[in-house]
Amino acid sequence: MKLSGKTEVYGVIGYPVKHSLSPPMQTKAFQSLGIDAVYVPFEVKPERIKEAAEGLRALNIKGVNVTVPHKEKIAELVDYLSEDAEFLGAVNVVKNVDGELHGYNTDVDGFLQSLLDEGVEIEGKRVTMFGAGGAARAVGYAVLKAGAKFLNIVNRNFSRGKEVGELLGKRGNVLVFPLKDGTVSTLLKDTDIIINTTSVGMKPDDPPLFDYSLIPEGITVVDIIYNPPETPLLEAAKKKGCKTINGLGMLLWQGAFAFEIWTGRRAPVDVMRKVLEEELY
Ligand code: ATR
Repeated sequence: MKLSGKTEVYGVIGYPVKHSLSPPMQTKAFQSLGIDAVYVPFEVKPERIKEAAEGLRALNIKGVNVTVPHKEKIAELVDYLSEDAEFLGAVNVVKNVDGELHGYNTDVDGFLQSLLDEGVEIEGKRVTMFGAGGAARAVGYAVLKAGAKFLNIVNRNFSRGKEVGELLGKRGNVLVFPLKDGTVSTLLKDTDIIINTTSVGMKPDDPPLFDYSLIPEGITVVDIIYNPPETPLLEAAKKKGCKTINGLGMLLWQGAFAFEIWTGRRAPVDVMRKVLEEELY
């Protein structure tokens, strides 16, 4: 790779950021299209996000991904928000347009595209989603945007679930439930798509989120975790003849849509997917 005086700078802002797969994925994307750009990690402490946003303008950094814990704060610091970013109050992509910062949320369409890729339609479907964190907001909103019949939100901390339910309820039929096997059992009898947005399943010794024998035969089960590629939830679902989808596609497509926002070019999705697979598995 040859750098020049015209090389443009992109990156990812997070804390921590060392584990991020965006630098190898986006770097390969720029290289494969012959775009004169670099993509680097920026480790930014929570208390310095405002200075970092100013730094993007001052240094004419062309665009960044924004990850945990900055997605909400950066939404208050940009000059323009896309409709999705504004609704969620969360930004994962910033584009610098002549010193104006434009904020987007590609987690939403990234999630939807990852399901479309696997031939899963959401319109008219009954969806049960576990979790009520930042990821759940984007995923739940995506599900309603795509026309789900209803969304059940199940969360361990019920009041946190209620908060998300209140927000997402503006976009569709949403009910909130506590995480209890009896409740889950009832809900899953009328569910077409299960989605896990919690961190349960990342560590091999995590106790199960719920009794996985309750998963109905042959439905669709999505886990936004991508490492490991097959969580115990997905493993159990597979044994029940379910269609299973992990989080790799969401990671890929949020990045692909970011690339398209920055460059106006079609993202080299196959190249990007290959980088993720090589880095992870
Ligand atoms: P993210 O931004 O990735 O969504 P988060 O905001 O920390 O992360 O949210 C984590 C989610 O995983 C929450 O819904 C959390 O449930 P609580 O709100 O009850 O804390 C859920 N979670 C994490 N560990 C869990 C566990 N052991 N059992 C059930 N839910 C868990």
